[in-house]
Amino acid sequence: MGPGAIGGLGCPRTLPLMAIDATDRTHLARAVELALRGQGSVHPNPMVGCVIIAPDGTLVAEGWHARYGGPHAEAAALAEAGEAARGATAYVSLEPCAHTGKTGPCSVALAQAGVTRVVVASDDPSEKASGRGLGYLRDENVTVEVLPSDDPIARDARLLNQPFRKHSKTGLPWVLHKAASTLDGKIASRTGDSKWVTSEVSRERGHRWRANLDAVVVGIGTALADDPQLTARIPGVVQQPRRIVFDTEARLPLDSKLMQEAPEIPLTVVVSRAAPRGAVGALTSSGAEVIVATGEHEQARVLSALDQIGQSGVTSILLEGGPHLAGSFYDAGAIDELRLFLAPKILGGRNARGIVEGVGIEQVADALLPVDWKWEPSGDDLLITARLREW
Ligand SMILES: NC(=O)c1ccc[n+]([C@@H]2O[C@H](COP(=O)([O-])OP(=O)(O)OC[C@H]3O[C@@H](n4cnc5c(N)ncnc54)[C@H](OP(=O)(O)O)[C@@H]3O)[C@@H](O)[C@H]2O)c1
Repeated sequence: MGPGAIGGLGCPRTLPLMAIDATDRTHLARAVELALRGQGSVHPNPMVGCVIIAPDGTLVAEGWHARYGGPHAEAAALAEAGEAARGATAYVSLEPCAHTGKTGPCSVALAQAGVTRVVVASDDPSEKASGRGLGYLRDENVTVEVLPSDDPIARDARLLNQPFRKHSKTGLPWVLHKAASTLDGKIASRTGDSKWVTSEVSRERGHRWRANLDAVVVGIGTALADDPQLTARIPGVVQQPRRIVFDTEARLPLDSKLMQEAPEIPLTVVVSRAAPRGAVGALTSSGAEVIVATGEHEQARVLSALDQIGQSGVTSILLEGGPHLAGSFYDAGAIDELRLFLAPKILGGRNARGIVEGVGIEQVADALLPVDWKWEPSGDDLLITARLREW
């Protein structure tokens, strides 16, 4: 690749070398910050932010994608900028789109508004984009620059949109495993009691994550033990997540809270081919969607279900347990991130359950290691976030 070549975005064309300097990086960091304002309101779309700066360095406009189906970040910023966009530079956290969906293509809008330079923090791996918007801008004589993928701001921009990126690249939903355990690693007492392991602050965070992801998943063990609703019960929720229960034999009771709310809040029950036809029929006629996971083993059925769930348009799921289902997900290599609340309590008991069961790994040397991890206080608890894969 020659000097100034743009790589990795499907358009390897040699351009005059223009470095992205510290000021550019400040504006890109701001675009990433603005993107976050769309959290919880734009999924399954990506979060995107945009800053428009005049040639003399003054701020012309800021925009972000605020709600699903609403204007994209570039369109929002251009609307605020008006004529002042002429000759300006647009800083965007994600490569501008080239397709007409619910709104028009942003690359066209940027060129038509007279923007002369576009600086991008991260690529868009979806089939509809993948360099097409950037190619269009170059054809319109707009200078296009992309932050190197190993730049920390580029990584921050990608981390904003992990579900979107994974789903675009693989068709599978991004999987966040949430668990709450005591200091001695128990998720429930020896009698199965788990209300409540964590503080109210931590439980509220859990509800926020439900609101921010497309679906919440549990196994039938948890559904029978806890009779949960799996809804996001906090103020300001735009859309309730789909609830999904892994239930091989279609045992979910028709009078469970999950089934009772199925007519209003989507519920999917994942069964196997062996599920009794009558039980499956009762679930569907009471408002649940049923999908059949195939495969001989539980981990194969996890992958089969995730494939179908991804194809139905679900880009992200919050796996809430229990330990049996979580074990199958880990065995299948299907977890992207773990968020573990550690509560300052000790329960003991040989029969009290841990966070993850399944087959597991034989040798410590082969343990699954996070790409990175961090911890922070959460009410009386500690929240540990371990990112296992990046997309
Ligand atoms: N503290 C926490 O963070 C937390 C979170 C959630 C749950 N819990 C507690 O965990 C306990 C329940 O956990 P659990 O492990 O017994 O149940 P679970 O993991 O919720 O459900 C396991 C069941 O799901 C079904 N299943 C269907 N497809 C599966 C697949 N592909 N892989 C694995 N399982 C599949 C299996 O039953 P079939 O084969 O019959 O379908 C399996 O026995 C409760 O005490 C609950 O309160 C605690």
